[in-house]
Amino acid sequence: MYLEERRLAIIQHLIENDNGSVAYYSARFGVSKETIRHDLNALAESGFVRRCHGGAILSKRNLLSELSSGNSNELLELLKKINSDSEIFNDYRGQKKMSGRVCVFGSFNVDIVAKVSRFPRGGESLMALGSSVGPGGKGTNQATAASKAGAYVHFVSKVGKDQFSRMASEHLTLSEIDSFNLYQSDTEPTGSAIIYVSQDDGENMIAIYSGANITVTDAEVQGIFPALKKSDILLVQLENNFEATFSLVKSARELGKKVILNPAPYSPKAKEFLPFIDIITPNETEASLLSGIAVTDMESAKTAAKEIQALGVTTVLITMGSKGALLLNDNKFHHIKPYPAVVVDTTGAGDAFNGALAATLASGRDLIYSASWASAFASIAVELEGASSMPDINLVNAKFTDHQLS
Ligand code: ATP
Ligand code: RIB
Repeated sequence: MYLEERRLAIIQHLIENDNGSVAYYSARFGVSKETIRHDLNALAESGFVRRCHGGAILSKRNLLSELSSGNSNELLELLKKINSDSEIFNDYRGQKKMSGRVCVFGSFNVDIVAKVSRFPRGGESLMALGSSVGPGGKGTNQATAASKAGAYVHFVSKVGKDQFSRMASEHLTLSEIDSFNLYQSDTEPTGSAIIYVSQDDGENMIAIYSGANITVTDAEVQGIFPALKKSDILLVQLENNFEATFSLVKSARELGKKVILNPAPYSPKAKEFLPFIDIITPNETEASLLSGIAVTDMESAKTAAKEIQALGVTTVLITMGSKGALLLNDNKFHHIKPYPAVVVDTTGAGDAFNGALAATLASGRDLIYSASWASAFASIAVELEGASSMPDINLVNAKFTDHQLS
């Protein structure tokens, strides 16, 4: 089989299956894994295909927008002929929805990212290897993750009246988030985050300016109620003004909704939420600050989880990066296993986990299943550049099933 023919066959397979592995294509076409990796890398340059751990996933959104753009190249023309009856040509939004409904209240930030070989020292100027400006903020990332994970999502956020507010509405309109309220502040600018991503290990350093995110008024909180009433779960973080988040959480509790608090970035006020929430999801740093126990491994995480539970919350789920997560529920500990990942950018790993957790719980799955699925979801998110880049549900399902079976 010729190279072009093989690459076209790979795209066809991806259109039908959403994802495929190097091992599968190598066996199917009788060529080495190295050859398939070259094919996938070349296809990735077209923008239709994204590389991931052990294989590739189809960027349906990119393919659809190219097909409908009127642009033409050999590959597109061939695809149009071959696939005119395929489902890819139907609107794919909503094809894969689970039944759960998640309301996310949180921040929008414009993320200004510099890729560096290592973090600069105090007083040092360092040449960046790349830089980008894009949508971010824990609320936005978590809403994006929940929608990519299959939930119906209503998102509420607040921006300024500046050029970045356009970025927010464009991002939300183009995303798979089903509905949103985007309030605007007359006085404060859109929130921003200056982020360094180290090429060494994909780790990040972030400085956040909250701007409009911390100007949410009582009336705006009231405006969220109609959507909240229709939701199964409310998911919040700590990038907005405390009063607004606290009042929404208390209302959600009164309405009998399940509430997940991701206590990030850490604030001592997080403790005030504990009697009103169902699940808290700190990372190791936040768990250490909440409990006063330095969390460095599973044993210290268990001690910290007990301390946090004693402050008044039933379920504690500590995310621990490449070590996975620790769940304390019903007085039992469960190690939520990590999934292998080729780390590119860990920014937003926690957001990916939280959004996916909320979506899976809202669909009716139990805690252990939902946390494990969220771990698979987040392990693919760390392979993607950008805090708001979240994986395709089919790829997550494939990775989840493979891991469960192995
Ligand atoms: P960030 O602040 O960078 O957004 P976080 O500190 O809030 O992230 P982490 O605990 O680092 O969140 O990661 C959340 C989840 O993502 C982990 O529990 C794990 O399931 C997954 N994860 C993170 N890093 C990795 C990795 N290197 N390999 C596999 N899975 C990972
Ligand atoms: O969790 C990652 C997010 O934290 C970034 O998108 C940045 O905006 C900060 O809020």
